[in-house]
Amino acid sequence: MVTLKAAAEVAKMREAGKVVAEMLAATGAAAKPGASTAELDRIARDVIARHGAASSFLGYYGYPATICTSVNGEIVHGIPSPRRRLKDGDIIGIDAGAIVDGWHADAAVTVAVGSASEAALRLIATTEEALRRGIAAATPGGRIGDIGATVQAYAEGQGYSVVRNYVGHGIGRAMHEEPQVPNYGLPDRGLPIRPGLCLAIEPMLNAGAGETRVLDDRWTVVTADGSLSAHFEHTIWCGEAGPVVLTAVGGEADARIRAELTAGKLVQA
Ligand code: MF3
Ligand code: CO
Repeated sequence: MVTLKAAAEVAKMREAGKVVAEMLAATGAAAKPGASTAELDRIARDVIARHGAASSFLGYYGYPATICTSVNGEIVHGIPSPRRRLKDGDIIGIDAGAIVDGWHADAAVTVAVGSASEAALRLIATTEEALRRGIAAATPGGRIGDIGATVQAYAEGQGYSVVRNYVGHGIGRAMHEEPQVPNYGLPDRGLPIRPGLCLAIEPMLNAGAGETRVLDDRWTVVTADGSLSAHFEHTIWCGEAGPVVLTAVGGEADARIRAELTAGKLVQA
């Protein structure tokens, strides 16, 4: 079932989104050579606690940590560990989710640790731009397929592969809701995008082939060919006037939500 969210509900998701943005800013800043991924998890846990929020990930199908930390050829769902120390030149995807008043937000960034290679930096920048383009395609009157078609065309045009085995998703009272949001596909196909739809859009781009493998820990997803991978994600709300990012620091989200709250929307918290 696809649910459309009222402005007052989106306002709560925005509060969760601010917590997620702070988790990513704090952990991204701490992703320096010598830091362990468990230290990043600890930092994220502290941000969650300071806001009286809860982690979307901890305990999800038994997931044992607050964030996911995916290094180099790890695509997503890497488990933080005190034994995993970051090295100069690594890249790390950090994925975080928070719950405020029962409403979820979910976002991810990939950052370079110290001085990464030109190739790694280009993969990171291209993945972030693919997300930006995918978000811009999530406009009322369009369809879900427009998002994936946009991401795929851009990523492949830059010489990268799109991961197909993992997709974005609807989000709201649950972290994973319908519809699925693939990072590939055909324009003008799939669910029509209507105001109130909230989506987590999350392109994963590989420098090599798009195939994936899951490690023996049953969580960590890696590139089958060992190539580098980058991941960016935002939770967005499809407003009447277009997509609004709920998991960014600053931006226009608060003003846009206020405008729709005061525009005579019937449902108030
Ligand atoms: N952003 C990821 C996703 O949507 C987070 C899930 S990690 C898990 O799949 F640990 F919670 F599973
Ligand atoms: Co997600």
